[in-house]
Amino acid sequence: MLQEIRNRRSIRAFTSEPIDDATINTIIEMGTWAPSGLNNQPWKFVVVKSREYLEKLSQQTTYSHIIQGAPSCIAVFLDTTASYHREKDIQAIGACLQNMLLTIHHLGLGGVWLGEILNNRKNVENILNVPPTLELMAVVAFGHPAEKKGRGTRKPLDDVVVARVEDHQALS
Ligand SMILES: Cc1cc2nc3c(=O)[nH]c(=O)nc-3n(C[C@H](O)[C@H](O)[C@H](O)COP(=O)(O)O)c2cc1C
Repeated sequence: MLQEIRNRRSIRAFTSEPIDDATINTIIEMGTWAPSGLNNQPWKFVVVKSREYLEKLSQQTTYSHIIQGAPSCIAVFLDTTASYHREKDIQAIGACLQNMLLTIHHLGLGGVWLGEILNNRKNVENILNVPPTLELMAVVAFGHPAEKKGRGTRKPLDDVVVARVEDHQALS
């Protein structure tokens, strides 16, 4: 598991080979095994495989080439009727998205979390004709990878761990 977390990279180019529904369902189901506050599971999904609709979606982001090149996308929404605490609900959706990306990686596929498309959130909601209670959180584009994974870089732990508060040490 540690290797899979470390080796997952965003994949932005795909072959035209379609992804079957069973695989798409597995990706979504694993998303739904993410934790959520009070287990409220505030997520909803729209699967897009139609070329016509993928093209429409692609026009809503500066990353249009990624969606145009993908055999399928999943739009992930916050279900505001299930929401009890906006910040926590959005965190839960982030966990759901990461589960989906890790599942995509585990299955030998590739995918990317598209957030820039939120600049045109309302347009996407209209295109996908979702009820007004659903708020777009991200679109995941995925498929069989047609590019090598990037190297991936992360800040060293020393840059991100602010303090280690231990019994024998006072905070300075
Ligand atoms: C909230 C969020 C929004 C993102 N939006 C985009 C996006 O719009 N387009 C894109 O190509 N990648 C997007 N990414 C992917 C990041 O660029 C990528 O995760 C980051 O550069 C680290 O690379 P890695 O995923 O290969 O480790 C997004 C990631 C997150 C978590």
